[in-house]
Amino acid sequence: MDREKLARRFYNIETLRRTARRVLPKVIFDFADGGAEDEITLARNEDDFDALELVPRMCTGVGTPDLSTELFGQRLRLPVLIAPTGLSGILWPQGEIAAARAAHAAGTIFCQSHGSTCTIEELAQAAPGPRWFQVFIYRDRGLTQSLVERAERAGCSALVLTVDTQLLGQRERDLKNGFAIPPRLGISSMLDMVLHVPWMVRMRAARHINFANYRGTTGQSEDIVSLAAYIARMLDPELSWRDVAWLRGLWRGPLILKGILHPEDARIALEEGVDGVIVSNHGGRQLDGAVSSIRALPRVVDAVGEKMTVLVDGGIRRGVDVLRALALGARAVLIGRPHWWGLAVAGEAGVALVLDIFRRELERAMVLAGCARLTEVDRRLLATGVESDRADVRLRLVR
Ligand SMILES: Cc1cc2nc3c(=O)[nH]c(=O)nc-3n(C[C@H](O)[C@H](O)[C@H](O)COP(=O)(O)O)c2cc1C
Repeated sequence: MDREKLARRFYNIETLRRTARRVLPKVIFDFADGGAEDEITLARNEDDFDALELVPRMCTGVGTPDLSTELFGQRLRLPVLIAPTGLSGILWPQGEIAAARAAHAAGTIFCQSHGSTCTIEELAQAAPGPRWFQVFIYRDRGLTQSLVERAERAGCSALVLTVDTQLLGQRERDLKNGFAIPPRLGISSMLDMVLHVPWMVRMRAARHINFANYRGTTGQSEDIVSLAAYIARMLDPELSWRDVAWLRGLWRGPLILKGILHPEDARIALEEGVDGVIVSNHGGRQLDGAVSSIRALPRVVDAVGEKMTVLVDGGIRRGVDVLRALALGARAVLIGRPHWWGLAVAGEAGVALVLDIFRRELERAMVLAGCARLTEVDRRLLATGVESDRADVRLRLVR
């Protein structure tokens, strides 16, 4: 399908999600769409955006709003980044490369997951634009160190340490579907896969799907199931701030902690020399019952926002959600599932469309809210913050 047709048919993220649900086998769709346990946090992540009412300003002479921002010295044309998601290659052959290319074309950053289906080096070669790399601190610190060193050699411009995964959350859709370690796929799941013919054909043509970064590092059997079990065993429930300090000593570039929800943790991160935090609950996939990211965001911003870069992810489905997050003090946002829906539907063109939908929606929301540039977006745009006058807008009007 050409790009214009694609854009006409899929006019928002939900239309892509609905088609992704149809074109993907149920086990794969549920793996992406689902969250931990009762999926309470997963639902809150989206629902809590609705409570944030905007109070737009009129007659501000916006024109075409400027969506650009700067992150760690890099100029972006869009404040929407691609979040790290493991195994993107199960949606579309070389899914990570497709997503990274789309991100670069849109003028934004792709964050590669430790669990990607291509290696750090392969991605660097195929999509040399701005890339971040995400790691965990493993029981075997040497394994983490080797990934960090590879990321540095491959030119990743920032390192993201995910700190909310001391062990894996219980994702019950996966348990029900048998998408677990070891997998227990029943006959109906196998049949369901085979019946999704276009997906099946694409995947058969693709090269072997695996946790590519770990091949040749474990000294054990390296099929995908063994590697998934190995990585799960490597997660370290004893992770502490001492380990963050260790990583800080190892990585010279910008270091970002992903999975911060408490303002005190953000303060400690700042003391440890961390450069940024991603307010995140892992898309509701880890601690069910955790606060939504958007609700946690303002307290983290109040604690450290003036001294470090605060980003947020979780439940962002509309350009207006991006505007709300920026109004609460985030410098930019990351999207996980939305880019997976684009990938599942049309590979690189699908991710490009997702980013374009966010760009168009954010642009429209900014014009309608009376904001010309991202630096003008702050809490005064929200119903809870209107009591303080938007002096910047008044100034612009007087002139
Ligand atoms: C299928 C899937 C795989 C993910 N894999 C990782 C991962 O490997 N590392 C990580 O730090 N976060 C991972 N995440 C979490 C995302 O980085 C991000 O925090 C989350 O998806 C944001 O929420 P959203 O999906 O509502 O946008 C994953 C999320 C999904 C949906």
